[in-house]
Amino acid sequence: MPKITKIIIIVISFVGLLISATLILNSNILFKERTQKVDNQIEEKTEKGFQIEKIDGITYIGGTIITNKTYSLPSTYVPQNIVIIYDYVNIIDYVKDAFNALQSDAQSIGLNIYPASGYRSYENQERIYNKYIEKDGLEKADTYSARPGHSEHQTGLVIDVNTVDMTFDNTAESTWLKNNCYNYGFIIRYPKGKEEITGYMYEPWHLRYVGKELAKKLYNNGFWITLEEYFGITSTYE
Ligand code: DAL
Ligand code: ZN
Repeated sequence: MPKITKIIIIVISFVGLLISATLILNSNILFKERTQKVDNQIEEKTEKGFQIEKIDGITYIGGTIITNKTYSLPSTYVPQNIVIIYDYVNIIDYVKDAFNALQSDAQSIGLNIYPASGYRSYENQERIYNKYIEKDGLEKADTYSARPGHSEHQTGLVIDVNTVDMTFDNTAESTWLKNNCYNYGFIIRYPKGKEEITGYMYEPWHLRYVGKELAKKLYNNGFWITLEEYFGITSTYE
């Protein structure tokens, strides 16, 4: 074969290879972009390696809905299957079932646990938060009341129980909850000593439903850890 033909074949093969590599690279990039945009879903990982999924503005971390100072809910978000207990407390139906079981076991040993507050709409939280700002100023209000869109109460997965103030701490009911609520899928969401991590003062009355499996991990044999610690996430306003 003449030398010039050989050179032409080599050049054509090289250009062909270059074109193929570019096409493969481009299709990979396009595929990655597509997988990140399916269903309005953006995915990343926490520093502990849990998947962060944002679906229609709602954040799920390791499959659990997360609402704190860092992660908010859309103002329009209203959970499905809300039911009313005690005439005025709204919660998701399966949370009601878990709470009923907790309440009846507590009752069988002479403890009285009753709901005080459950689901709160964005607008309702806005009213409450603004009222606290008027009373205590923004900096203090931020230590115990969530800004609208940042309250777990908007998820429908929370029940505040009994007396919603520190007189509830160290009551027989509060102590029992601290040691047993995980058996029903609830956690003490804002434990004592974890204020800097959760962004909120200790709230012995605020029970958040996460399911039994995760609740047991967070109970941590009596040494409660927070959702923030477990998932490796922050709770701070921007
Ligand atoms: N008290 C809690 C932090 C709330 O306002 O949701
Ligand atoms: Zn609460």
